[in-house]
Amino acid sequence: MVKVAPSLLSCDFLNLGNEIKRLEEANIDYIHFDVMDGDFVPNISFAFPIIDQIRKVTNLTIDTHLMVSNPERYIQKFADAGSDIITVHVEATKHIHRAIQQIKDLEIKSGITLNPGTPIEQIIPVLHMVDLVLVMTVNPGFGGQLFINECLDKIKFLKEYRTTHNLDFEIEVDGGVNEVTSKLCVDAGADVLVAGSYFFKHEDYHTPVKQLRGE
Ligand code: DX5
Ligand code: ZN
Repeated sequence: MVKVAPSLLSCDFLNLGNEIKRLEEANIDYIHFDVMDGDFVPNISFAFPIIDQIRKVTNLTIDTHLMVSNPERYIQKFADAGSDIITVHVEATKHIHRAIQQIKDLEIKSGITLNPGTPIEQIIPVLHMVDLVLVMTVNPGFGGQLFINECLDKIKFLKEYRTTHNLDFEIEVDGGVNEVTSKLCVDAGADVLVAGSYFFKHEDYHTPVKQLRGE
């Protein structure tokens, strides 16, 4: 069954504790935590104080997506704050292999991601190292954007590559995921679906969880 990872970017921050409780009750798989630095992407979100607080109240997997230039500077701090998975952009550093190795050395799960305009070939040299590959299906920086269909080919490629090379990374999809586009992603080979605006517009979080899982 496909995993569901709500993106907190669209949650009700005035009621964060209650939001986490409702996500637990709805049986989600990962909490997707979007960090934006105003440099790698044209927007700023949130970071350490929030993730620290979330870690104190839940055992859910915290899936941290760093939309940050030179993420090497902050990997240790995000691990200390309680991230279970840290994902970095191939475009954000000159030394992607070193950045992934840095995450692995902290004995947490490592992820690689790429923008819609970046060819999949750029991440091939590190695919054997990672636990997760995040396929961006919007240009990162904002919730609520439209799904870019062309990115589905990257999901298909990764699924095939994983089999032929006997690897076991998860394929996660992020951006514009809703009850329609989620099916396209799952058919293409996605294992984890991130959803922000579509997920949090619901009153009852069991509904998007069921719809995304195709139940
Ligand atoms: C985009 C972020 C996403 C975003 C998804 O920059 O990485 O995780 O919150 O939001 P929706 O699901 O609304 O596209
Ligand atoms: Zn994200």
